[in-house]
Amino acid sequence: MKKSILCIGAGYVGGPTMAVIADRCPDYRVQVADINEARIRAWQSGEPPIYEPGLKEVVARALNRNLFFTTEIEKAIEEADIIFVSVNTPTKTFGEGAGMAADLQYWERTARQIKSCAKTPKIVVEKSTVPVRTAEAMDYILNSGGGVHFEVLSNPEFLAEGTAIRDLMEPDRVLIGGKNTPEGRAAMEALVTIYARWVPRERILTTGVWSSELSKLAANAFLAQRISSINALSALCETTGADIGEVALAVGRDSRIGPRFLGAGVGFGGSCFRKDLLNLVYLCECQGLREEAEYWRRVVLMNDHQRHRFVRGMLSHMFNTVVGKRIAVFGFAFKADTGDTRDSPAIYVCRRLVEERAQVVVHDPRALDNARVDLADLGDAVAYETDPYRAAEGAHAIALLTAWDLYAQLDYQRIYDSMIKPACFFDGRNQLDPDKLFSIGFNVYTVGRPPRTH
Ligand code: UDX
Ligand code: ADP
Repeated sequence: MKKSILCIGAGYVGGPTMAVIADRCPDYRVQVADINEARIRAWQSGEPPIYEPGLKEVVARALNRNLFFTTEIEKAIEEADIIFVSVNTPTKTFGEGAGMAADLQYWERTARQIKSCAKTPKIVVEKSTVPVRTAEAMDYILNSGGGVHFEVLSNPEFLAEGTAIRDLMEPDRVLIGGKNTPEGRAAMEALVTIYARWVPRERILTTGVWSSELSKLAANAFLAQRISSINALSALCETTGADIGEVALAVGRDSRIGPRFLGAGVGFGGSCFRKDLLNLVYLCECQGLREEAEYWRRVVLMNDHQRHRFVRGMLSHMFNTVVGKRIAVFGFAFKADTGDTRDSPAIYVCRRLVEERAQVVVHDPRALDNARVDLADLGDAVAYETDPYRAAEGAHAIALLTAWDLYAQLDYQRIYDSMIKPACFFDGRNQLDPDKLFSIGFNVYTVGRPPRTH
């Protein structure tokens, strides 16, 4: 075996990333460690604890060959030459910077654990999204008080859930930030060598540490900003009669703008966009850049507003009351092809509907377990259904919140026949053909297009 790699944190980022590295570099020994025993047991069984298309197959190729999952973190630290840190860095919920800054407690604990267990020099790679200059703090903690030397690199992850394996196998770019010293350059080269096994060299960018950290925040902020921009336009389309789909198509044909991430809908969710935007806002504020902070904050506020507007639209089209009405929610994950529900718009929509005393029935092919946890406090006001036809039976309305392929395959005549009339369809992702639904008999409400009502 050539080198030994460890990743601390076996979540949505650490698990898939290490599976792909192990798959592409069979001569490296790759270990993934986590404090969560149930998660580790699931990975070890070959049934990953997260749903990600193609992941199971990649894990199967490398598991117990050169890919190992463990809870023995300290032993794994001792054995590793390169340590990726991929623990969670959620938004702080308390104290200074609450609701904005990253909560770095797990991350710092990990840094200290590495320091106390390491007996030989290591390259430590920061993989979690962290505020700019966190690597500097990591460097400081690791290298203070003497002992073995640690070289800290930043290697942000750009994978999107649902397409993680493709994103890892064929990345647009790999970004590696390090110090411009002989040791820093050597550490970067060690990491470049790993990625170069399957990524063309010209796609591997090396930069300073801070640029690398900031680039991750910046990329997510740009993507989120496109969604908020198109959603802001969707409201204008609804009031003026323009069609957001046509506008997005025409705008996206400009090669300087491009067609992706112009899908209007109920707004963005997921573990990254809000967190990274707020991180950026906090950073700007700490630097005394008030206008810049405000600029990025508006992107988040527009997203909140879009969720809010969607629910208000549902209410107003249902005679301003949903008390006692059954509403089927199609899709709870923050996007299709994942079971992840972190910051999913569906959480907000369901909570608001229950507040208005509706009877909510949630269907999702992969996210029902997470939905039950997210809405646990709502008790009987929410039901969970594994069959979309049963979810819609006797409902006054359907709200489609995640664009799962299966929703395009359903028999909507059958669904319509089983619902209370007038039957409303609120398509929060503009996934289905509104004309087809309308001709079946539904009143159809989409985002950024005039309603179709009978
Ligand atoms: C994102 C970034 O894409 C990825 O590079 C980074 O590493 C992590 O954050 P992810 O959150 O997994 O990835 O999913 P993404 O595909 O970016 O979607 C985020 C949210 O935006 C979803 O809720 C999605 O439904 C929404 N979205 C996306 C839209 O509302 N409209 C669009 O046109 C595209
Ligand atoms: P991400 O989407 O960034 O991968 P996740 O929450 O899916 O975030 O994964 C982070 C993982 O890190 C979790 O499985 C969590 O148990 C693990 N973790 C958090 N703190 C530690 C720690 N000190 N040591 C090992 N693993 C940790």
